[in-house]
Amino acid sequence: MPNPYLPNPAVIQRITDENEARDIKTFQVAFCDEKVRDTFRYTCGQFAELSLWGFGECPIGIASSPMDQGHLQFTVKRTGVVTSALHNCEEGATLGIRGPYGNGFPMQMMEGGNVVIVAGGFAFTTLRSLTNYILHPDNRRRFGDLAVIYGARSPGELIYKYDLEDWARRDDIQLHVTVDAGHEDWTGLVGYVPTILQEAAPSSQNAVAVVCGPPIMIRFSIPVLDKLGFPPSRILNSLEMRMKCGIGKCGRCNIGDKYVCKDGPVFTFEELQKMPREY
Ligand SMILES: Cc1cc2nc3c(=O)[nH]c(=O)nc-3n(C[C@H](O)[C@H](O)[C@H](O)COP(=O)(O)OP(=O)(O)OC[C@H]3O[C@@H](n4cnc5c(N)ncnc54)[C@H](O)[C@@H]3O)c2cc1C
Ligand code: FES
Repeated sequence: MPNPYLPNPAVIQRITDENEARDIKTFQVAFCDEKVRDTFRYTCGQFAELSLWGFGECPIGIASSPMDQGHLQFTVKRTGVVTSALHNCEEGATLGIRGPYGNGFPMQMMEGGNVVIVAGGFAFTTLRSLTNYILHPDNRRRFGDLAVIYGARSPGELIYKYDLEDWARRDDIQLHVTVDAGHEDWTGLVGYVPTILQEAAPSSQNAVAVVCGPPIMIRFSIPVLDKLGFPPSRILNSLEMRMKCGIGKCGRCNIGDKYVCKDGPVFTFEELQKMPREY
């Protein structure tokens, strides 16, 4: 049986600075082993353990879409030891990848219905994966309306600006991009995500809402979704607990009897309401 802790080497093909503060970067990577590259499969919302020799490893959501061929993307905020070491890497450097891990978004629950994505800050990563997955020509007709409400503190802190520009040109997505504080060059929406969500008022009919962002954004977005008619069983959230093994062995990430790495990180609000408030 292969050792589940053994990372697969991958080379960094491209590094993209995502924000003005330059503390968020997207790493496009490709497995060195062609066989691993061709057989690695994942669903939106899953994560991987990224490692750098001599520094350690950390869980990072997969930001690319499962429809992308030959490479993966991870968007990483410089936070501490491993993420800083990653930020110091250059294109061509090698890192380790274990995964994919976690349950991912319940695509069967979403297919055939409308999807509302509510995101704040750099927690947009796996939701960006989901948006690009739904918008892919092979998938678009399997979903109904797609609404994306995404906000950041300032225009310079919006990530994936290249995607936002592409999406804004399409007529099969209702895109609402907002910033907390405007700027003289900013002609878009200004206001907190929950306020913009309330104004956009996407229908809850046959819809699922996926909410990821800072705790305060989530706290104020839930009552808005509730008023719009989304039941807790149709609202999804992805948790970011401290993790170690990522595969349900070490007990580092558990909340009550749930392992966030294995049973999550995606949970419905109905499930979260039944769990101890340790997240
Ligand atoms: C399922 C999952 C998906 C994630 N996806 C992403 C992603 O797409 N992009 C991204 O940048 N980060 C993501 N994270 C968070 C990322 O794993 C942590 O930022 C990372 O582990 C920090 O490692 P470090 O060695 O750089 O920091 P450390 O040196 O270990 O810690 C630095 C500081 O960060 C805090 N910290 C460490 N881990 C976490 C955590 N999990 N949650 C909150 N605070 C933490 C520590 O308490 C400390 O204050 C995700 C976490 C999980 C569990
Ligand atoms: S991280 Fe080890 S059990 Fe979840």
